Amino acid sequence: MRRRTSPLIAPSILAADLSRLREEVEAVVRAGADWIQVDVMDGWFVPNLSMGPLMVETVKCCVSVPVGVHLMILEPIRYVEQFHDAGADLLIVHPEATNNLHRTLQRIRELGIRAGAALNPATGPEALDYCLSELDVILVMTVNPGFSGQSFLATMLPKIRAVRDRIDRSGYSISLEVDGGVNAQTSAHVLAAGADILVSGSGIFKHPPYDEVIGRMRSG
Ligand code: DX5
Repeated sequence: MRRRTSPLIAPSILAADLSRLREEVEAVVRAGADWIQVDVMDGWFVPNLSMGPLMVETVKCCVSVPVGVHLMILEPIRYVEQFHDAGADLLIVHPEATNNLHRTLQRIRELGIRAGAALNPATGPEALDYCLSELDVILVMTVNPGFSGQSFLATMLPKIRAVRDRIDRSGYSISLEVDGGVNAQTSAHVLAAGADILVSGSGIFKHPPYDEVIGRMRSG
């Protein structure tokens, strides 16, 4: 799959003002966001508890763009039906969090939604080599997951390039997503390394006006 000419921008509501969630997601969609990212955390796989299927349902009631759900939880297969039923359009799981990555990805696709896998900073692209046929998205984490507002790990840029190369050589139609400290300053480096999709929480929600910051991130 050739890279998109224009990257997709996915604001993460982890950094939004959740007391005004409808206003916030409507505002970023008006400002050009392509989809909304919901970061689910279980306090075990990552050191934070965040949100669950109800939050996905709520976002789906507010906007019509797709909702990507990043499951930073142990054994995510336990919850794929619930998040599908809540309206998730994409479910991203971690190879570090399951003994059954291939089966989990198959289950997500059986439900008719897109399947993704996220790589923590210490995990190499080879972890996904035997799952490429089951993947629609590979997410390269550029922070250690758990919180928004962390600093971008530039040491992950070679990994983004390596994943880009693996995807291009695989022949599969897989999008390359990057998440963690992605903002108007780091987006150019991430796009140059081969990203198709930028996830950003604080880079967008803490830096209004949203149309300007989303435009700057998209142009790199
Ligand atoms: C993992 C989360 C965060 C979030 C974006 O901690 O997945 O990366 O989406 O947070 P920012 O863009 O503020 O780093």
